Amino acid sequence: MAFPGTGKIWMNGSLVDWADAKIHIASHVIHYGSAVFEGARCYDTPRGSACFRLDAHLNRLFDSAKIYRMDPKLSYEDVHGAVIETIKANAFKACYIRPIVYRGYDTLGVNPLPCPVDTAIVLWDWGAYLGQDALSNGVDVRISSWSRSAPNTFPTLAKTSANYANSSLIKMEAIAEGYSEGIALDTAGYLSEGSGQNLFLVRNNVLLTPPASASILPGITRDTVITLAKDHGFEVREEMLPRELLYIADEAFFVGTAVEVTPIRSVDKIPVGNGRRGPITEAIQQAFFDVINGVVADKHGWLEFVYEGEPREAVGAAAKTGRAR
Ligand SMILES: Cc1ncc(COP(=O)(O)O)c(C=O)c1O
Repeated sequence: MAFPGTGKIWMNGSLVDWADAKIHIASHVIHYGSAVFEGARCYDTPRGSACFRLDAHLNRLFDSAKIYRMDPKLSYEDVHGAVIETIKANAFKACYIRPIVYRGYDTLGVNPLPCPVDTAIVLWDWGAYLGQDALSNGVDVRISSWSRSAPNTFPTLAKTSANYANSSLIKMEAIAEGYSEGIALDTAGYLSEGSGQNLFLVRNNVLLTPPASASILPGITRDTVITLAKDHGFEVREEMLPRELLYIADEAFFVGTAVEVTPIRSVDKIPVGNGRRGPITEAIQQAFFDVINGVVADKHGWLEFVYEGEPREAVGAAAKTGRAR
C-alpha cells in the first residue's frame, strides 16, 4: 500500500510536511544501515484512540540505540511526547507508529561516531499486514533458505535497519515462490522467526516459541501473547525448537505489531494441523483483539489513550470498532 504523501512528520523536534521530510544522500544511514527504529500501533478503540504498549516499544528503541552506541540526546519522555504530539497533529484515530533514530550527515567513513544522531517519527495508516483474509484463514509459508544472523554478528535484540537486509532476503524469496512469508532458522538449524514477526507453535495444548537465544527479535506482541496465554491457563514454553516440529504441530501462528496474530496454515506445502486456523490460535486472537478493541478490562495497562477526554465511557461490547477478526 503506497503512502498517502500527506500529513506531518516529526523530525528532530519540528513537525514538517510529508513532502519536506528529507535527508541528504550522503547521510551515514543510507550507506550503512545505521539506524534503530520501532513499529507500534495506535488503535481506534470504542473508548478512544489508544497506543498499544508504546512504553515497551520506546524502551526497546532506547535499548537498540544503546547497543549501537547512539545517544539520541532525547529522553524517553521527549520521544514519548513527540509520538503523541504527532498523532494529534495528524488527527489520526488509528495508525502505525514508526520512530527512527539514525546517523545523519557528516562523514561517510564506516565509523558512525562523527555523524549526528537524528530522530524522526513517521505515522501512517496500515491495515492488516498480510491481508484481512490472512487473519481468519491463515497464510502459506516456507522455511527460508536464508538463516537469521549468527550470534555475535548482527545483534538481534536491537531492532536495527541493518537486520532488515536479512529480513528482505527472507521475504523476497518467499514471495518469489508464491508464499506469504518465510520462516528463518538460526545458524544452528533451530526455528527462529519470520521476516518481521515471531513464531508460536501449538502441540498437545502447549504453546511453544523460540527463545531470545534463537536469534529472534523478542517482540512486544510475543510478550503480550505469552502473558495472555498464561492468563487463559495455557502452558507456554520458550525453548529451542527443531524445524520438523512445525510440520507436526497442531497449530502455528505468527505474532507481531504488523501481523498481530496471524494463523499459519501450511509450511513447505505441508498443512499445519488440519490446514485451518486452530482453536488455540483463535482463542489467542480473540484475547488479543479483545484487549485492543477495548472490550475487556485492560488489566495489564497496555492501552495509552491519546486525546483529551478519552478514555470515554465504554458503550458496550457491541460497539467494537477496532480491527476486525
Ligand atoms: C524481525 C522481527 N521479529 C519480530 C517482530 C515482532 O516484534 P513486535 O511484536 O514488537 O512488533 C518484528 C516486528 O517488529 C520483527 O521485525
